[in-house]
Amino acid sequence: MTERPPESLYEWIGGEETIRKMVEAFYPIVQQNPQIGPLFPEDIEPVQDKQFLFLTQFFGGPPLYSNAYGHPMMRARHLPFPITKERADAWLGCMKQALEQIGMEDKKKKMILERLSAPAYHFINRDGS
Ligand code: HEM
Repeated sequence: MTERPPESLYEWIGGEETIRKMVEAFYPIVQQNPQIGPLFPEDIEPVQDKQFLFLTQFFGGPPLYSNAYGHPMMRARHLPFPITKERADAWLGCMKQALEQIGMEDKKKKMILERLSAPAYHFINRDGS
């Protein structure tokens, strides 16, 4: 007997509730991170909300970010911030910690991090650390 394959990564990992938990765990970890914390505003809630909308769409859920803000152009939106290879690694490290904190199953955690690695490294826009 075979199960029907999941529609999207979004559904497979648990949809809205899981993505909400992810971003709520992620930003406090980011804020504590010496490499990337200082890039973020103290009032993190607006960023957290945008990330919820964006990840929903990025993982194959409804296009909440585009509905609210238009074309994501995420690399362009990150250009004002100096993103180095080290900072991309730090961002992914914070996400890994967040996923562990919320008890994400190993194979799902791996898949999520794999999917996020592509944009993270694509957003690198400066040399050095
Ligand atoms: C590679 C390392 C990354 C760094 C250092 C970084 C840093 C930042 C910073 C500083 C902001 C702006 C915060 C503000 O509004 O002042 C931001 C916004 C954002 N980031 Fe990243 N980011 C990274 C990777 C990613 C990745 C991989 C994604 C998603 C796949 C992502 C999604 C977003 C979103 C959705 C926003 C809000 C954009 C908006 O203003 O509409 N970021 N990021």
